Amino acid sequence: QPGSPALSLRVKTLDGEFVYQAHTARANFSVLFHAFTNKSGFLECMWSTGSSIRDLVNELPDQTQLVFMSLDETAPDDVKWMKYQIEKEVMRSKKKDLLSRLHFVPIPVYELGNWIPDLLYSWRCRPCNCGLNQAVFNSPGWEMPIVVKRLDARYDWLMKYWSLDTYLVKDAGDGCKTVPEVKGAVAWVSEEGNCSYFVKVKNMEQSGAAGVLVYAGPGKAIQDMDCIGTECYYRLNIPAAMVHFETDVMDALRGQKQLNVSFQKTFSPNNFFGFDMEGKLAETGCFLYPTFKFLVWQAQWFVYEGSLLEKLTKPAYVVNIFNDTIMQGDKGAVATVELPKDISSFDKLELDAALSCPGTRDKTCPHWDHTVQLYVCCENDTSYCNLELGRWITAFCRRIGRWLTDVSPLIPLLNSTKCTFRMKTVPWAMAWMPSLNLRFSKSSQ
Ligand SMILES: *[C@@H]1O[C@H](CO)[C@@H](O)[C@H](O)[C@H]1NC(C)=O
Ligand SMILES: *[C@@H]1O[C@H](CO)[C@@H](O)[C@H](O)[C@H]1NC(C)=O
Ligand SMILES: *[C@@H]1O[C@H](CO)[C@@H](O)[C@H](O)[C@H]1NC(C)=O
Ligand SMILES: *[C@@H]1O[C@H](CO)[C@@H](O)[C@H](O)[C@H]1NC(C)=O
Ligand SMILES: *[C@@H]1O[C@H](CO)[C@@H](O)[C@H](O)[C@H]1NC(C)=O
Ligand SMILES: *[C@@H]1O[C@H](CO)[C@@H](O)[C@H](O)[C@H]1NC(C)=O
Repeated sequence: QPGSPALSLRVKTLDGEFVYQAHTARANFSVLFHAFTNKSGFLECMWSTGSSIRDLVNELPDQTQLVFMSLDETAPDDVKWMKYQIEKEVMRSKKKDLLSRLHFVPIPVYELGNWIPDLLYSWRCRPCNCGLNQAVFNSPGWEMPIVVKRLDARYDWLMKYWSLDTYLVKDAGDGCKTVPEVKGAVAWVSEEGNCSYFVKVKNMEQSGAAGVLVYAGPGKAIQDMDCIGTECYYRLNIPAAMVHFETDVMDALRGQKQLNVSFQKTFSPNNFFGFDMEGKLAETGCFLYPTFKFLVWQAQWFVYEGSLLEKLTKPAYVVNIFNDTIMQGDKGAVATVELPKDISSFDKLELDAALSCPGTRDKTCPHWDHTVQLYVCCENDTSYCNLELGRWITAFCRRIGRWLTDVSPLIPLLNSTKCTFRMKTVPWAMAWMPSLNLRFSKSSQ
């Protein structure tokens, strides 16, 4: 489970071996693992887009090691291709030393013989970072349907998902002008032509299409269809996805045969996980778009968390307020505690706050980003009662969050040896489990 100590690991790589020694003390690096599969349009796009790899090369923190694997039988070729994709960008960057922190495993995941496959299969997730989005074509006379990978256009400019219906497919050329014949059908549109993805989808919506499938030119990769500039001010209301060119699909359309398409998601093992700086297993969050930025952000979180834990080793007088306490509803989390009598001898107060939630995985955490507020009310000094001592924001559907916040100027709010602390977020949110320590110290020390 996330949070358990990672076990030692030794795997063969293109350049030798990757060895990880399980440790009890804090390491000075974190590790991120990625298991690629070319059965995913999302991952194909992530690895084929220059800007995605450039972000990985330029923004990955120095304290991060990366291990790349493949779930497919083509693993040796896959990881060589992945290495080549990265090397191209490394040549153009100043990060020549990056390659020494990247490890490419040429053995398919299903032949690893260690605990990694078990983790990838049991951390199967929904809705992000795994699962194969597919389009299924059917035509009279075919023995078998044709199932292809697809990458849906981002939800932020197309406010519509595919339904479970079966749609007819109609050819719409390059989609750069309206095509009345596609009314009620899914438009089959080439990526060519002198117009943007937005214009293609808009033209098809105006033609009455139920959805759009844009196909990549032969030999070209699936791309992340996005709006550009002012296009993004308009909301389109039909779903769209990108797929590869399919000869049989084209032949059926050209031959005026009936052609149907439906949309499905096939479950798959997880494609990402990590070891944090403490050597604990970690999830990597929800990759909304096919870019390595999301992996970089996870690596940055590990670095941040590592340096925060380092700061916590400094001596302080610690008062525990919450310890994985359920915070939910109007009441929130409430605790009354005894504070040190000699509080006036401290001039520094830090809030060490962490958020977790019931369950063991990110998916059991509340959705949405909400404000969390901490109020304090001390006995015998009601003039300061229920003033705000701290404020945070929850991470969207992530079982993480840790902050060390200096609130020294608010020490006078704690004007008693007995104070009641209340931490709350919006009452309708699912439960969080905050932990909170007050850290009193003397700034001269
Ligand atoms: C991934 O699959 C596409 C077709 O589905 C193919 O064109 C491409 O070469 C493949 N990439 C790799 C690295 O195998
Ligand atoms: C295609 O869809 C139509 C209506 O949605 C249905 O009547 C027909 O049987 C389907 N054909 C195939 C080959 O699935
Ligand atoms: C493509 O469209 C733009 C603007 O609509 C136009 O300026 C340009 O000349 C066109 N290019 C070609 C090759 O048609
Ligand atoms: C929080 O609870 C856990 C489990 O009950 C315990 O091990 C830990 O010491 C507690 N932490 C604090 C700060 O009280
Ligand atoms: C608060 O006031 C009550 C009586 O008014 C007193 O018994 C108690 O000791 C006081 N507590 C503190 C922390 O000053
Ligand atoms: C509370 O405030 C009063 C007046 O400012 C001060 O004399 C007293 O020491 C304070 N008590 C505590 C516990 O900080």
